[in-house]
Order: sequence, then structure tokens, then C-alpha cells
Amino acid sequence: MPSDNESLTQIETQARGQLDAVSDEDALERWRVAFLGRRGRLTLVLRGLTDLPVDERKRVGAHANHLKRELETALQEKKARLAQSITEALVEERIDVTLPGPPLPRGRLHPTTQTLRDVLDCFVSMGFQVVEGPEIEWDHYNFEALRIPKDHPARDMWDTLWIDYEKDGERPMLLRTHTSPMQIRVMEQTQPPIRVVVPGKCYRYEATDPTHEWMLTQVEGLAVDEGISLGDLKGTLADFAHRIFGPDRKVAFRCDYFPFVEPGMELRIDCFLCGGQGCRICSRSGWIEILGAGMVHPEILEAVGYDSERYTGFAFGMGIERIAMLRHGIEDIRLFYSNDLRFLRQF
Ligand code: DAH
Repeated sequence: MPSDNESLTQIETQARGQLDAVSDEDALERWRVAFLGRRGRLTLVLRGLTDLPVDERKRVGAHANHLKRELETALQEKKARLAQSITEALVEERIDVTLPGPPLPRGRLHPTTQTLRDVLDCFVSMGFQVVEGPEIEWDHYNFEALRIPKDHPARDMWDTLWIDYEKDGERPMLLRTHTSPMQIRVMEQTQPPIRVVVPGKCYRYEATDPTHEWMLTQVEGLAVDEGISLGDLKGTLADFAHRIFGPDRKVAFRCDYFPFVEPGMELRIDCFLCGGQGCRICSRSGWIEILGAGMVHPEILEAVGYDSERYTGFAFGMGIERIAMLRHGIEDIRLFYSNDLRFLRQF
């Protein structure tokens, strides 16, 4: 047990040294216990005083008590300093919860999606159901079943991206060139009455230019029932055109050829830029082509097992980017998927 001035000096040096290193309240408490606690080093010196001869007891006692007071003072000072630095740290870290947060970037729907939704809403409100089909399609559905046999010149209407998969020396799979194959798939799986619209991406082997992209979004429509006539087709599509392009648009139907309809036609609206005079937008014709349509070919109805004497139907197909371009005055279809935010943010 330390019992003289020498060891008191040692205790003091160590106590002060260790106190300097203390940086939190737990360490400070451990320091207090080590030196000033009930079994602390200085406490033991004080307790051992009784064993000393009288004159030494006085001298060592006076020194030890003095040291005890000093260490207690040092402890209090350290305690105060720790408390202060905690407060300072808190002040430093203080968060003003009333400040507005950093603004979150606001997203928006792609212009294709916006127009697609408007188009679908229009047909849904007329009782059409929305169905989707595969983007990778069999030659059979994309062409054959739609009366576009191999080596038929009508195939030239669609530039096709074939899947690198061979069967019996042929490549029977492709990225669908249009949504029309879903007409067949739906008819194979359901019986009339049918009212469906089919949104989806289509792919074509195109050299891109302002009006051609290798990927496009189409909406196909199909209605099959007893007694469906060309009048139903015209009424439905005229209503659609008025709802998307405004009630003042004139609509006109003109003969066109698509292998899966008879008769086939295109729907046009009068040019909203020149009002029919003829301008750059309408290629000086006064009319803008909106979509292809027609009465479902009876051979197609028969091929899916429908009685074509009893059932008739109409079909139509449109490119959504084209409709969005007309609605918003967009002059280059390639803008849609080039991901330039300066373009996309405008919608
Ligand atoms: N599938 C045709 C195309 O991509 C568009 C089309 C024309 C669809 C006439 C139809 C239709 O359903 O009846 O060019």
C-alpha cells in the first residue's frame, strides 16, 4: 500500500495524466472509482493512515487530503467541460425541422403512355376490353393466319426482325410487326360477342427517319358479333377521332388494302393545321391518315371456327406515336425514345 509522499506524487501524476485522456462520462466515472472510489487508490492511502507513526501520519495525511481535494476539484472541472462539449456538439448538429426539404424531382408519364391511356380510355368507355399479347410472335399469328402467306407480296408491307431460331430449315419466330396477331389469338380463345383493344409494342426492320422507328406502340381493335356492319366501324372510329382530336374534325374513310380485312380502309381527319387547304403536315392533301381498319375477312372468321354467315366483325389498328405526334405537333418520331429530358419534360 502506498504510504508516503513518493507514492502520493505517483498517484497524482497518474491521476492527472489519465484524467486528461478522459473523453466521455463513462470514462470519467471509471477514473473516479479508480482514484477516489471506496476502494480507490487515494482512498486506500487515507484509510491506511492509522497504521502510520504519528508524525508521519500528520505529514502524509495533510498531503493526501490536499491531493483528494485537488482531484475532486479536477473531477468537477472535467465533468463541467464534458457537459459543455456535449451541448456544443448538439448545437452543432441541431436540425431545423421547419426548413423545407430538398425538392424531390417530379416524374411524369411518357408522351406515348399519355396518349395510349387516352386512346384506351376512349374504347373502354365504349365497352371494349383491354388485352395484351406476346411481343415475340410466331410467323403463323403475325402473318399466315392473317392471310399473309410466305412469298406473298403483302409481306413487303412489314419489314421484319426475325428471331435467330430455326425449325425445319425455317425461322418461325419474329418480333411482332403489328398487334393484329392478337385478333387471331383472341378469337381462338373466345366466342363472340368480342370487343377488345390490344395495346403493345411492335418492331420493324426500319432505317429510321422522322416518321419511322424500329419500335412503335400500336393499339389494335376487334369487334365480332352478329350483325356488325361497316356502319358500326365508321361510327365507332368517327367517335374515337372526335374524342382524341376534337369534335370539329372532319373524318373520312378511304379504301386501302390490308390482307386480313375486306373491305379495308384508312381513316383520315382533315388537317388541323391548314383546315384542308393543304400544307406541310398533311403533305398538301388537306387530310391526315390516322389508322387502318376494315371488316374482318370471312376466311379469317372461318379459320378460327366461326360461322361467317352468322358473325361479322370489324378491326382497326393505329400507331400511338403517330397520334401523339399529331396531337402535340411533334415532328420527329425518333424523339420519343432518344431519352432527351428536354423533350420529355414538355409533356
Ligand atoms: N396491322 C396494320 C399495320 O400495322 C394496321 C391495321 C390495318 C390493323 C387494318 C387492322 C386493320 O386491324 O383492320 O399496318
